[in-house]
Amino acid sequence: MKIAVLKELASGEARVSASPETVKKFVALGATMAVEKGAGESAAVADADYQDMGATIGTRAAVLKDADIVLGVQGPDPQSLKGIKKGAWLVASLNPFGERKRVDDYAKLGIDALAMEFMPRITRAQSMDILSSQSNLSGYKAVLLAANEYGRVFPMMMTAAGTVSAARCFIMGVGVAGLQAIATARRLGAQVSATDVRSATKEQFQSLGAKPIFVESVEGIEGEGSGGYATEMSEEYQKAQAELVSSHIAKQDIVITTALIPGRAAPRLISDAQIATMRTGSVIVDLAAEQGGNVEGAVAGKVVVKHGVKIIGASNIAAEMAADSSALFARNLYNFLSAYWDEEAKRPVLPDDDEVTVGIRLTKDGKVVNERLLAK
Ligand code: NAI
Repeated sequence: MKIAVLKELASGEARVSASPETVKKFVALGATMAVEKGAGESAAVADADYQDMGATIGTRAAVLKDADIVLGVQGPDPQSLKGIKKGAWLVASLNPFGERKRVDDYAKLGIDALAMEFMPRITRAQSMDILSSQSNLSGYKAVLLAANEYGRVFPMMMTAAGTVSAARCFIMGVGVAGLQAIATARRLGAQVSATDVRSATKEQFQSLGAKPIFVESVEGIEGEGSGGYATEMSEEYQKAQAELVSSHIAKQDIVITTALIPGRAAPRLISDAQIATMRTGSVIVDLAAEQGGNVEGAVAGKVVVKHGVKIIGASNIAAEMAADSSALFARNLYNFLSAYWDEEAKRPVLPDDDEVTVGIRLTKDGKVVNERLLAK
């Protein structure tokens, strides 16, 4: 049973899909570990650290040869998988909706592509959930990016030279990233408010000390629906939300948006006209910029200035904390594969009817088999 760990080739990707800790654990399960040369360098892991835990280091061709399982952070270009054997598993974040053609190409290669971001949101799969582990860090970093671009300070300071007032920070979308953003902004001393469409979030963020800004006149999403995800809201709700946000946003210094709807473009939460009402020097961080953006005018990977307001379009900011984000990502992959480890077969075995298998398996025996993807 050979597991290959690929070096990430996508631009801006600094993470790696295995850590010395997970290499050691896979070796203890009986796997042979082969890590592509330099795979961990940008995440502060040297080749020697992997070797110390029992891995061999080699070229891409060498690690891919005879590999049963190939680990990655982002989905590799199918062209770069030449030599991979039929029936091998590719386990990574594969962006199935955004990279549909790639999925077809994985099928043509005859491999089983397993998309970790399609992990079902069930209790037993919590420790395998890459969206949670990476969003948590992104929520933290979003606040630091905002603080860095903000020409003022976050906490109230009473000094001999006078008093500086606390920053007002508004978090829109309180899932995993939003909750961490609230906690981080509070630690820095900001006055924090927050909003979401799921009524279940209200209690969660109030307990972290954020003031709720909620549409009460139109029904939102009660409870946590399917897997805790939001759905697209009615026009009536969107209108009520826009009105509420308009009056609130004009008084905010920092706004962090994290709202996502799986498989769809991110909902538009802030318009250019609303940005124009904000104070000059305010900062907006759009964590959904890569999925179409919550904020009008946001550009992924760039800071743009509109009406004197800086808009930071986040782009893979988990990679900016590559050492920690890789360690957690690697553990998610280990938790998944080890949970399905079959002692006799000395490899993981995925039952066809298992909820996790059905959720994450994109391709099998040369075909695209994932229902969510085929229904699109
Ligand atoms: P997400 O990344 O899909 O979306 C972020 C937030 O934006 C969500 O809270 C969503 O309700 C909100 N949102 C969507 N449209 C909006 C709009 N128009 N206006 C305002 N807010 C909007 O969500 P995330 O962070 O992945 O988590 C959602 C929930 O799933 C959380 O409650 C989390 O605890 C739960 N979860 C459960 C897991 C498990 O059981 N294995 C694993 C991960 C998360």
